[in-house]
Formats: sequence, C-alpha cells, structure tokens
Amino acid sequence: MTKRLEFDLNTRGSGLRRIDPSAKDQMTGNAAGLFHMITFSLNGETMRADVGATETLLDFLRERQGSTGTKEGCNEGDCGACSVIVTGPDGVARAMNACILFMPQLHGRAVRTVEGISGADGTLHPVQAAMVAHHGSQCGFCTPGFIASMAAAHTNGATDHADQLAGNLCRCTGYAPIIRAAEAAASEGVPAHMAETLPKVDAPPFAMPETADALATWYADHPDATLIGGATDVGLWVTKQLRDLKDVAFLNRCADLQQIELGETHIKIGAACTVAQVLEAIRPLHPSFAEMLRRYGSVQVRNAATIGGNIANGSPIGDSPPALIALGAVLHLRKGAAQRETALEDFFLDYGKQDRAPGEFVEAISVPRQPDRLRCYKISKRFDQDISALCGCFNVTVEGGVVADARIAFGGMAGTPKRATYVEAALKTRPWTQATVTAAQAAFEQDYTPLSDMRASAGYRMQTAKALLQRYFYEDHGVAGDVLEVRP
Ligand SMILES: Cc1cc2nc3c(=O)[nH]c(=O)nc-3n(C[C@H](O)[C@H](O)[C@H](O)COP(=O)(O)OP(=O)(O)OC[C@H]3O[C@@H](n4cnc5c(N)ncnc54)[C@H](O)[C@@H]3O)c2cc1C
Ligand code: FES
Ligand code: FES
Repeated sequence: MTKRLEFDLNTRGSGLRRIDPSAKDQMTGNAAGLFHMITFSLNGETMRADVGATETLLDFLRERQGSTGTKEGCNEGDCGACSVIVTGPDGVARAMNACILFMPQLHGRAVRTVEGISGADGTLHPVQAAMVAHHGSQCGFCTPGFIASMAAAHTNGATDHADQLAGNLCRCTGYAPIIRAAEAAASEGVPAHMAETLPKVDAPPFAMPETADALATWYADHPDATLIGGATDVGLWVTKQLRDLKDVAFLNRCADLQQIELGETHIKIGAACTVAQVLEAIRPLHPSFAEMLRRYGSVQVRNAATIGGNIANGSPIGDSPPALIALGAVLHLRKGAAQRETALEDFFLDYGKQDRAPGEFVEAISVPRQPDRLRCYKISKRFDQDISALCGCFNVTVEGGVVADARIAFGGMAGTPKRATYVEAALKTRPWTQATVTAAQAAFEQDYTPLSDMRASAGYRMQTAKALLQRYFYEDHGVAGDVLEVRP
C-alpha cells in the first residue's frame, strides 16, 4: 500500500498535534520553504511525503506521523533515544539517529522504527522478548532506541554488544541487563518481517547528485550552498543553532564519492564514504587507526558521518585528520572540471579556515600504501561516544636502529589538526633510543601552544602529548599498551 502525505498537517489522524501550516518553515528549519516529494519505506509500507530539505526524521515521525515511539532525548546524536533502523541499497540494516537525519537522505531507503519491530500479530521480536526476560527496562524512555539498535545488530549478526550499544544511553536500568538481553537474543533467528524491500523511486527530489560530475556542475553554479554528507555536524546546525540553510545538496546518492579503491600504491577513499565503511577498509592495513575509529562517536554516528565531512569541517579535534596526516594522505579537491591535490596538512590553514574555494568540494582522499607503523591514541573523558581532548598519531620508520622517517600529527593541540614538525626533526636520523625520545619530547613545546578548555587544560594536553611519544616508543619495544592507559 502506498500512503501519500500532503503537507496539510490538519488532515492527519486523531491524536496528532495540530500545527499551523504557516509554522512549517520553523518546523523544518527551512527558510527557503522548499518542499519536495520523497519516497521511502516506513515499517514495510511505501510512503510518499512532501518534506522539507532539513526536516528531520524524528520531527517527521513524531510531529507529522504521530509515531511517538521514537523518543527525543538530546536532539544532537548523543543519546540514541531516537535510534531507528535504515536500510540502503546495499541491503544492510543500520542503526541511525533520527534526530539528525534529514528526510531527503531517506529517498529510496527503508526505515524501521520501534513500532515496526514486533510482528503484525504483536509477537515480540527476540530482542524485545529478551529485554522483558532480562529486566532491561525501567522508566522505558531509552528502551525504544535500545530496541532499534539491538534489532539492527541482531539482523546483522553483530556480537560485540557493548560496542553496538555504546550510542544508547540509559539513566536508570544500568547496562548489564541490557547487554544480557542482547546476548540472549543473539541465538534467535531474525523474524521474516524484518526483511526490507526498497521502494522504486523516480528522479531524486532536491539536489541529490548521483555522480561527481553532476555534483561539480551543480556546486559550481551554487557556490554558497551547503553540502550535506552525513549531517552529523549540519544536523546540529539545524536542531541546536536553528540555522536556516538555503541551498543544500545531499551527497548520499553520489556513487562516485562512495568508492574505496585498494590500489597497489594508494588507497583512495571517496569523500562520501562513511566512517563505518572506512573503519572496515582500513582495519587490515592500519588496525590502530581502525581501533580509534571504533571509538568515533557511536555505531549510529559512524553509520552517518562521512570522511569528507570530517575533513571539510576543519575541526581541530576531528579524529581522522591526524591519522591521515601521519599516513601522508593527499586530498583531492574539485571545482567544476578543475581538480587539484594537496597534502592534507596543508588544507588546514587556521582555526575555521581551510584551503577550499567557494564551489570547491572534497572528492576523495588517498593514502599511500606502506608497512604499518601507525599508532593512534585518542584521549577523551569517556571511552565511548566522546570527542577527543587530544588525539596523537605516530608513524615512525626505523631502519637499522635509526629513525629514517617520522610523521606525527595531533588533534586538540592547536587551532587545526597539525603536524609536530619539530618533534619529527628531533627524531629523524637519530638512533631510536630512550635518549632520542626524551630529547624529542621537549620539542613539543615548539610545535604546540595548546589551549585550556572544558575537555582538558593546556598543561594536561602538553604533558600527555609527550607521554604519548613515550608510549609509542614503549609499545614499539613490546611493552603492553594496556599498562600505559592515559586518561584526563
Ligand atoms: C554524537 C556525535 C559524536 C561525534 N563523535 C565524533 C568523534 O568521535 N570524532 C570526530 O572526529 N567527530 C565526531 N563527531 C563530529 C562529526 O561526526 C564529524 O565531524 C563528521 O565526520 C562530519 O561528517 P558528516 O558527513 O556528518 O558531515 P556534515 O555534517 O554532512 O558536513 C560537515 C561539514 O562538511 C561539509 N562537507 C561535507 N562533505 C563535504 C565534501 N565532500 N566536500 C566539501 N565539504 C563537505 C559540509 O558542508 C559541512 O560544512 C561527532 C558528532 C556527533 C553528532
Ligand atoms: S535524541 Fe539523542 S541521539 Fe537523537
Ligand atoms: S530505562 Fe530509564 S533511561 Fe533507560
């Protein structure tokens, strides 16, 4: 059955909050008032709905659809109360945060909310039955989000339950009963109704380029527009800063930007690849980088955030840039037909300022193939789902006991992700010994003048950066990393 939703909110069923249609722009954060019809599947039914460019799935579900099972906690991707399951063209079910997912991103996708997880006859899904049996819910506010995340993980056969649920917060039950429920459900089969059929869709509404060429042409004509990768930053501009975005283009249908090429000399990663995709591709090559990415936000955030967005936003505490700089990555930029390359470290000019012209976008990033010497250390107050206080990435090549090359980069130590060139110089051509490391530690003072903020003090950051070089040295000499745990 196909349901059609018009934008007259008063026509919807009883129990819905009446919203004055003149308030629609407020509701969608879309001053341009641009609405287009998208087609997607919601709990197994194909739907067509007129949606705003920056209308979130959470608002759509709760305000327009009356489906209030999906909860709003933080409205910024942190708590997981709004978790839903989204299935894309690859057929994989992914937990995502509805509060920072824009409706156009769902065109041609399937969404399953907590209302669609039990069977049509009311039979509980195995994760729901296990939550009851293991007392996994008290006040119940977080429970729909947990159920969505658990059901996505259950569908995918994931068994790292703590990792899968790190993006769902519960204030009252405690996590042990919830993890026990996830473990108990793991051996049960996936109910047939969880299989999704993606709806057939017409030409995409909104600007949703399907090739890099189409994106280049469109963006050159709309140089002031906002590109939307995963919306894990842009979503918050709308939900928290209440910003009105005029022209926007969505990158999640741009197949050219979603490829990862494993070449003989380079790995080339398209800018719209998600952090989850990059994590899997990089794991066999640079496991320490993959481990750091495993601590990037949560499953829900990694399923949305793109590597291009993590670079283009120029954040001084973004996690991927220091690792990519330490690996010698090159950024591929494009404006219209003109393509250029730049060393990633040269892209970050100053706080909030990147080497990117209006109408120019990040097309890809390439990483040279190399033996794995990379170690990445993310230091944050919480192990999971926390932004770095600082993040240090070390890639030191030692030949015949002497440092042949060193690439070291940090996030959280300056206004941009930044190489430690003085430390590198203090290591290069010198014996790889404690004496060299001790001398090089002093050079951090020349490379960085960190700030104090809510995440860490300047003194803590400097001391920790020095300690991380020591830790890299120890680990290279076989001292176990876990005895060297460093936390703010
Ligand atoms: C709950 C939560 C947890 C988080 N945890 C972490 C974390 O642990 N580590 C971390 O590093 N970050 C974290 N972030 C920040 C965020 O996930 C990243 O900055 C993310 O990578 C941004 O990517 P995106 O695709 O979602 O970007 P968007 O929000 O879509 O875009 C961000 C910016 O980049 C621009 N942009 C996007 N793609 C391109 C492109 N191809 N070319 C040019 N410009 C482009 C956009 O126009 C916008 O200005 C977290 C965010 C949230 C909400
Ligand atoms: S409401 Fe908290 S993650 Fe969406
Ligand atoms: S059961 Fe109350 S917040 Fe989780």
